[in-house]
Amino acid sequence: MYSEKVIDHFNNPRNVGEIPDADGIGQVGNAKCGDIMKISLSVENNIIKDIKFKTFGCGAAVATSSMVTEMVKGKTVEEAMAVSNRAVAEALGGLPGEKLHCSNLAADAVHAALDDYVEKQGTMAKKGIAFDGQT
Ligand code: FES
Repeated sequence: MYSEKVIDHFNNPRNVGEIPDADGIGQVGNAKCGDIMKISLSVENNIIKDIKFKTFGCGAAVATSSMVTEMVKGKTVEEAMAVSNRAVAEALGGLPGEKLHCSNLAADAVHAALDDYVEKQGTMAKKGIAFDGQT
């Protein structure tokens, strides 16, 4: 069955919501069950300053979303990129085998939001170069 940590994060999810003007947004879905997880985050000096999630999914998906936000908040972009689905499940004290796939959404959504952040940074840098007229 579910660990106490899973039940706690399901009953009292941390960092629920959406960040207005987020630096990065990531959304992933599970094709099998149709559940969707959206992560928005803000980054300052390469540190994840704030992160919020919205999950339309099962209890395990909500718990893993909540846990992953706690795991990466305050971390560098690189450290957050290295957080795996397995690490999220382990931090929750494990998930029942048939629910392990639910934890895939959590780290994947964070990685997607970070990819979006990195891409936006690149776009801004390119725009800056064009604006300055220098290479
Ligand atoms: Fe869909 Fe858990 S059943 S994420």
